[in-house]
Amino acid sequence: MTMTHTSVLLQELITNLEIKPEDFVVDATINGGGVSEAITVLLNKQGTLIGIDLDEDALKEAQSRLSNASCRVILVEGNYRNLNQILSDNHIANIHRIFFDLGLSSRQLGESGRGFSFKRDEPLLMTFTKHPGEDQLTASTIVNDWSEEHIADILLGYGEEKNALRIAREIVRRRKLEPITTTLELVAAIKEATPLSYQRKKIHCATKVFQALRITVNDEIEGLREALHTAYNRLTVNGRIGVISFHSIEDRIVKRAFKNWSEQNMGIVHTKKPIRPTEEEVQNNPRSRSAKLRIFEKTTAC
Ligand SMILES: C[S@@+](CC[C@H](N)C(=O)[O-])C[C@H]1O[C@@H](n2cnc3c(N)ncnc32)[C@H](O)[C@@H]1O
Repeated sequence: MTMTHTSVLLQELITNLEIKPEDFVVDATINGGGVSEAITVLLNKQGTLIGIDLDEDALKEAQSRLSNASCRVILVEGNYRNLNQILSDNHIANIHRIFFDLGLSSRQLGESGRGFSFKRDEPLLMTFTKHPGEDQLTASTIVNDWSEEHIADILLGYGEEKNALRIAREIVRRRKLEPITTTLELVAAIKEATPLSYQRKKIHCATKVFQALRITVNDEIEGLREALHTAYNRLTVNGRIGVISFHSIEDRIVKRAFKNWSEQNMGIVHTKKPIRPTEEEVQNNPRSRSAKLRIFEKTTAC
């Protein structure tokens, strides 16, 4: 049975994007089209929705979900950091709304077979693309080929993992005996390197390591920075950007970009404080607990 992804902060995002029926809207992380489905209802025949995702299976799901949409729908398998190219390829100059719902979907976590979950024994890939090219970085390359210092650096920087040094050391010790090729082999190394008290915490002891590896493999931080910059340039005056993030590093990037733009009188931050899910949403969908939504409106032509 296919796992369905429950969209997070859906109503809050839609309300704050203030979409008009004839708008050109970009869903930069369309996945199975949960948010997009609700958006297409607001668009008329003159409106366009362009959905981007790196995951071909997600796009197939979106395609069938949006098959009856009354607006124009364009789906693109690609990376949102290539937004300029994607828009140019589709002969699109300017957009009215764009949003990013960052991270990975419940389906990718549960059934992609690419090693996103520490609860399943899968190969250590962590790529959003289903068929990574030979030159695509994978979690396995990081764990087996990178230096101890470099591994510790990313665990600390992208995972804020306080046991980073010990975990990196244990990974290197184990891989000298034999390569670490699966998620559960990596979890075993993390368990060996962390105190029992850490393993008994509510959050699984491998959470931060897996997060850090995924962010590094997909170059998520640089990708987001670039995409925000392009998104701003491509927006019409009064165009809006919405971003839902799930951890502090991403949120910081979004917050700083928006603040920077507003200080240069390039637009208005509509969320002085990020919008958070209600207690009810967190109860119904625990994945939403760390979500933060920020909205920016461009007010001057660039
Ligand atoms: C949290 S899900 C989005 C959920 C979606 N809004 C919904 O309601 O179903 C994030 C999606 O972003 C995609 N993704 C992650 N990084 C990407 C990138 N750099 N470019 C394009 N898609 C990306 C993932 O493959 C995943 O499908």
